[in-house]
Amino acid sequence: MQTKDKTIMRALAGEALPTPPVWMMRQAGRYLPEYRATRAQAGSFLELCYAPDLAAEVTLQPIRRYGFDAAILFADILLLPQALGADLWFVEGEGPRLSTITDAAGLAQLKPIEDIHDTLAPVYETVRILKRALPNETTLIGFAGAPWTVATYMIAGQGTKEQGPAKKLMYGDPATFDALMDLLTEATADYLIAQIEAGAEVVKLFDSWAGALPGALFHKYATDPARRIIQRIHAVHPAVPVIGFPRQAGEKVVPFVKQTQVAACAIDTNVDPAWAAATLQPLTCVQGNLDPTLLITGGGALTRTVQETAAHFADGPYIFNLGHGITPEADPANVDVMLRALRG
Ligand code: CP3
Repeated sequence: MQTKDKTIMRALAGEALPTPPVWMMRQAGRYLPEYRATRAQAGSFLELCYAPDLAAEVTLQPIRRYGFDAAILFADILLLPQALGADLWFVEGEGPRLSTITDAAGLAQLKPIEDIHDTLAPVYETVRILKRALPNETTLIGFAGAPWTVATYMIAGQGTKEQGPAKKLMYGDPATFDALMDLLTEATADYLIAQIEAGAEVVKLFDSWAGALPGALFHKYATDPARRIIQRIHAVHPAVPVIGFPRQAGEKVVPFVKQTQVAACAIDTNVDPAWAAATLQPLTCVQGNLDPTLLITGGGALTRTVQETAAHFADGPYIFNLGHGITPEADPANVDVMLRALRG
């Protein structure tokens, strides 16, 4: 099957499909016993990310089990800062930790952008393996974090609730902050182009903390970097669709879509599907936004919400997905319930 004929690609090209194509954010993850086994075999999460055979294996696991329409490359948004020279490690049960960048001197210690491919070569190898191993009809999605979201981790050294440290650098030392954002914008474009050249058919830009940007600065630090990254990708690969995910950006997703040329906008759980169908879907393909909590609780509420969500978007281009990542507590059997509700 040619790339353009795959269900996900048809939706991204603007077609309304009778049964929406479906995949899940974090579909390879700890809710699956086979993921936990492969992760144990790798030793740690980061070793798993950098072992192409095993990273390809965990990418394929949810495809084998559920037959999703898309596979998302197994990696992490924080591999890019690591490739730029930041220290990165994961604390069990807590999350990522990085060395911090708090001033111009810290920024100056990062590596030149062209060096990122040394560290990231195993990720490109994972993409090449997947390209050969995936079923014919399955779309391969590559990804990166958006500059703002990646910057929040590089500045704070960990996940933070309100993105306070990143905002303090943004206001307190705008020259350093802007230089970091520019560096991440260019490095992210290079990274995504390399994934495409290894075989990714679509790429997604995760701006998980976009909602923490003050309204007036959202354009500068979420929309504009996404616009520049997509422009660079399209200069060399004009047909490759990019999915944007400006999480919790509220009504600002509308100018985001108009100004970036995203082929689809992923919407988070907070967005009212009726509003998105009326306001966003005429502009672009919409992806989302089932509450991941329903995959823990299941039952009639899950079936009903899947069907109601899909019904809102039935008349336009749409990809069914969650509003955020599936959690470790989710019951794998509830994913089957979700798919039955959607596909009949
Ligand atoms: O299946 C997939 O979606 C592909 C792989 C993927 C992972 N992370 C694997 C992962 C993707 C697309 C991501 C994106 C990512 N990583 C984001 C953006 C999306 C979002 O969730 O908002 C962010 C913010 C990160 C950074 C990150 N990675 C955090 C904060 C954590 C710790 C929290 C957690 O869930 O444990 C991670 C770890 C991580 N990335 C895991 C996985 C499967 C769990 C690691 C483990 O196995 O212990």
